[in-house]
Amino acid sequence: MLDLLFTGCTLPDGRTGMSVAVQNGHIVEVAPGFTAPAHETIDAAGQLLSTPFVDAHFHMDSTLSYGLPRVNQSGTLLEGIALWGELKPTLVQDAIIERALAYCDWAVARGILAIRTHVDVCDPRLLAVEALLHVRERVRDYLDLQLVAFPQDGFLRAPGAQDNLVRALDMGVDVVGGIPHFERTMADGADAVRALCTLAAERGLRVDMHCDESDDPLSRHIETLASESHRLGLHGRVAASHATSMHSMDNYYVSKLLPLLAESGLAVIANPLINITLQGRHDTYPKRRGMTRVPELMAAGVPVAFGQDCVMDPWYALGSGDMLEVAHMGLHVAQMTSRDGMAACFDAVTRVPAQVLGLSHVGLVPGCRADFVLLQARDAVEALRLRATRLGVWRAGRRLASTPAQSTALHLPGRPGSVSFQHG
Ligand code: FE2
Repeated sequence: MLDLLFTGCTLPDGRTGMSVAVQNGHIVEVAPGFTAPAHETIDAAGQLLSTPFVDAHFHMDSTLSYGLPRVNQSGTLLEGIALWGELKPTLVQDAIIERALAYCDWAVARGILAIRTHVDVCDPRLLAVEALLHVRERVRDYLDLQLVAFPQDGFLRAPGAQDNLVRALDMGVDVVGGIPHFERTMADGADAVRALCTLAAERGLRVDMHCDESDDPLSRHIETLASESHRLGLHGRVAASHATSMHSMDNYYVSKLLPLLAESGLAVIANPLINITLQGRHDTYPKRRGMTRVPELMAAGVPVAFGQDCVMDPWYALGSGDMLEVAHMGLHVAQMTSRDGMAACFDAVTRVPAQVLGLSHVGLVPGCRADFVLLQARDAVEALRLRATRLGVWRAGRRLASTPAQSTALHLPGRPGSVSFQHG
């Protein structure tokens, strides 16, 4: 007797009429038309069953703090960093925990079951680190939380940041972060990349740096990050987050850079909602779009994931943990409107970020953990178009969240009925 059986599923790769069988928290069969006795059988009726959403880039220590102590008037990255600097000394651990747990509830409801969050280590009290380590423990039965030691004010530039970052790793933070474009000089930025990659290699950790989140085409720290990854044998364990300066780089230079990134096994994490908002602020017109070169990176064989980055914090007033909203913005900004392009954008919030985070249990094949989101959509493109309702969310075969199907009753004269926005 199976624990759980889904029938009539469409899968993200386009296969229809598929059954997915679950036993002891793991997938035991994926086959068309398969049936067997089960404690619970769910007829997906042609809707999309996917691995859950994974957010590869988030800031959980600042989430849901919008308006504290004031709002970002200019809307720029730099005013956001200054505002976060004003807020930091007033932070209280319980409030960080409460906001983070509230966000985790939102995330699970939206079908996110893994988040990589950066945590600022420049406050010598390491309050946010302690708070998020506590949260990681509190949510571990339903959400995989990966913490990145993030020196927001500069690894070399901020007093004490080097010691604080090492202390954070000693306390159990998972990943080495950085922000080379925020160091005092280009040379300092490159030195920070080298030091941080060496630290990660010594400790056997992954690396995820805020890298070149700038409109300056000469911000080229991603090149150093890639060459250090290659030199230290960190292939497949290093990610460059944001990487926005690449949108403004010289095309000839990028033609050399892309193969280097592929050779180094680097991943790139773009944050379309935030960077379409923050970048290009010094431009009049034409105004740059502010996102890295997503389709070109993908074509070069570089794994690209989309992250949410911010929800209601000093940098961004909006957001709700909706990775379909993130992918929807990403495909617009990158003009990835072909069927294959849209499918790749869906992958960029599901399959690819799971790979970037090293979550080997994620997949839709026997042996993988039974983690799913069932969407009110008949394929990945429809899911993006509708930012589809998450009908159900499961982890290890256990249901974590349910949302009723969306349907609006119409009271039109001579044309009563209902509408769900699914066509045909
Ligand atoms: Fe970020």
